[in-house]
Amino acid sequence: MKLCVVGGGSTYTPELVDGIARLRDTLPVSELALVDPDERRLELVGGFSRRIFARYGHPGVIRTTTVLDEGVEGAGAVLLQLRVGGQAARHVDETLPLTCGCIGQETTGAGGLAKALRTVPLVLDIADRVAELAPDAWIVDFTNPVGIVTRALLDAGHRAVGLCNVAIGFQRRFAKTLGVPASDIQLGHVGLNHLTWERSVLLRGEDVLPQLLDRHAEELASGIGLPPALLRRLGVVPSYYLRYFYEHDAVVAEQLSAPSRAEEVTAIEERLLEMYADPALDEKPTLLEERGGAYYSEAAVDLVASLSADRGDVQVVNVRNGDRLPFLPAEAVIEVPARITAAGADPLPVDPVEPLYAGLIAHVTAYEELAIEAALKGGVDRVTDALLAHPLIGQVSMATDLADRLVTANAAYLHWA
Ligand code: G6P
Ligand code: MN
Ligand code: MN
Repeated sequence: MKLCVVGGGSTYTPELVDGIARLRDTLPVSELALVDPDERRLELVGGFSRRIFARYGHPGVIRTTTVLDEGVEGAGAVLLQLRVGGQAARHVDETLPLTCGCIGQETTGAGGLAKALRTVPLVLDIADRVAELAPDAWIVDFTNPVGIVTRALLDAGHRAVGLCNVAIGFQRRFAKTLGVPASDIQLGHVGLNHLTWERSVLLRGEDVLPQLLDRHAEELASGIGLPPALLRRLGVVPSYYLRYFYEHDAVVAEQLSAPSRAEEVTAIEERLLEMYADPALDEKPTLLEERGGAYYSEAAVDLVASLSADRGDVQVVNVRNGDRLPFLPAEAVIEVPARITAAGADPLPVDPVEPLYAGLIAHVTAYEELAIEAALKGGVDRVTDALLAHPLIGQVSMATDLADRLVTANAAYLHWA
């Protein structure tokens, strides 16, 4: 299969290439096309990726191109992992909301909205090229905000599934704690992208979450930055993105006195690119573990393999709600376990969701719908409405002020501003 990666110049790409090389029996890739507007990155990341393939004796060809159509043409699957505006735009997402006392984060809150405004129109244009040049291809979307981008793709009629590494991260982590193979573990994962809770952890069918929380709540909670007592009392494991809600003000205080994640990542990326330039390097460096992409290669390989080979296994993905969460519109996109076949992702039935989680899920879903409206149609009023609907903003003075300033700061990326 030809696999196309849009945003292939990312410093994350070697993680993916390493997964493709190791898991070649799961997913045979004959050609990997890395598409990116940045020629320097393409050269460094492409060269290093070829050495990873060579190290594993992988027979696939790796091509790099700045021309989207060349990369997409004839692909069996297209992975989207782009970042409009790079780390500089991310830095604005992470710092501008702080001036209003709101968290600065690239996918959650006002920063996530700014990212959606920059990203949705571009991703839809890319998807149109996919529909034309690779009509049978599945689009696997890693591009954040994944829930919003996936819904926009599905609304436009594209063959798309959204993917994030939070669920596979929990699966691997629980497996390690329990000393069992990850494949023996199925998560009762529910919510929206970057707004999820693990409500059960099935080990060969038996729920071991109570036992995990009994024995390992401290360790699990410290990885998420939430109090262990909360996990024990609720009997669930929230994702670390819930910290932006449950500890909002504490996070703001921390963020005000620390460099932004964009600044940290910029420094890591410079060092990574230097390493990738070394012709002797043919293994992913441990420094890559300081990025947030752990296991994303395995999640991607598994998903593309099941979509193309009709494997029918269960994976956690972003998919249309339908009637799974009855308190949401059918068109909403949710992140839950789904059966993956050649026909796409079919979400498994979900146990009734407790009000404590359902309330927040519904609230953020409404925000996401307004965010898509704003991204597609533009206008500062639509941006304001989306912020008014967001549970972390919600006040008219803040929403109006943030909307104005986000639109101004991102004008170069908004065709309507
Ligand atoms: C996790 C999230 C991704 C996000 C990444 C950021 O993997 O699931 O959606 O893009 O973290 O990592 P970074 O190294 O860029 O901060
Ligand atoms: Mn279209
Ligand atoms: Mn994610």
